[in-house]
Amino acid sequence: MKPIVVVTGKNGQLGWELQQLASSFQDRYEFVFTDRTMLDLAAPESIAPFFEKIRPQFFINCAAYTAVDKAEVEKELALTINATSVGEIASCCARFQTKLITISTDYVFDGQGTAPYSTTTPTHPVNYYGNTKAIGEQKALENNPNTVIIRTSWVYSTHGNNFVKTMLRLMKERPEIKVVADQQGCPTYAADLAEAIMQIISAAQKGNNAVGIFHYSNTGATTWFDFASTIKEFAGLTCSVLPIPTEAFPTPAKRPAYSVLDLQSITTVFGVELKEWKRSLKNCMEQLHA
Ligand SMILES: NC(=O)c1ccc[n+]([C@@H]2O[C@H](COP(=O)([O-])OP(=O)(O)OC[C@H]3O[C@@H](n4cnc5c(N)ncnc54)[C@H](OP(=O)(O)O)[C@@H]3O)[C@@H](O)[C@H]2O)c1
Repeated sequence: MKPIVVVTGKNGQLGWELQQLASSFQDRYEFVFTDRTMLDLAAPESIAPFFEKIRPQFFINCAAYTAVDKAEVEKELALTINATSVGEIASCCARFQTKLITISTDYVFDGQGTAPYSTTTPTHPVNYYGNTKAIGEQKALENNPNTVIIRTSWVYSTHGNNFVKTMLRLMKERPEIKVVADQQGCPTYAADLAEAIMQIISAAQKGNNAVGIFHYSNTGATTWFDFASTIKEFAGLTCSVLPIPTEAFPTPAKRPAYSVLDLQSITTVFGVELKEWKRSLKNCMEQLHA
């Protein structure tokens, strides 16, 4: 019997990319992709019955409450989905000897750093979403000895809503746009992250059962302004892109000023190949036009 791999959040950016990739792995794994109608993380009590029924060998948790600004208001819901349910998933994983891979965020850091954040740097979120994800991380590690947490940043894909698609739309609609130029981070093409996740699962199948916190993004730090300017260049658009400071674009949730992740451990432990952010952006934009 093939090992069962559950993937939550099948309609999100990462879940969708994992669905695209699954066809190349169908001979080795049986995939169960879930949306909120099959497994609702706002209802933690529904998680144990789901495990009883499916009994997965691998559980990839891509579902999350990701509306960073709305989380400042919908606190209880964000906490339930990102922390309470992640803890419950981890407890069930421990009971059913399931390997858990759950996704976290650069927003667990406060952004005061000036060098890439190591996986061992203490967390100190500056917004409520980051806070819920940091609590979720703790519970995932405490409740299940076989947990891999992958923190990622600035995720985009051909699917769903993201910075790349928003910029392309605005640049076509307007003669000029203003983009924040004093927040530094690194974009991540969700298709690349999906590949990294499958590599970690393959490694576990071959006996590499490394656990703990890992970081994954594309390589090379940038700013939202530079990111937008590169999107414009690759799309061949003429809209003016102007740099602005964070203060000129107030949002309900504070953002970390610097959130570049140190990617060393995922490459040394799992041999995950890293991809340069502009190359991945180009790939994604080619897919969008295809
Ligand atoms: N996007 C980023 O820039 C970013 C950055 C750093 C880390 N991350 C992390 O990366 C992971 C994947 O993010 P993403 O960009 O793929 O997110 P996304 O596109 O916003 O997708 C999130 C998914 O979670 C599902 N979901 C929300 N509430 C749920 C519930 N109550 N029960 C079950 N499913 C629920 C959503 O379902 P619906 O489709 O029904 O809404 C959606 O499929 C998340 O853990 C996120 O925190 C994301």
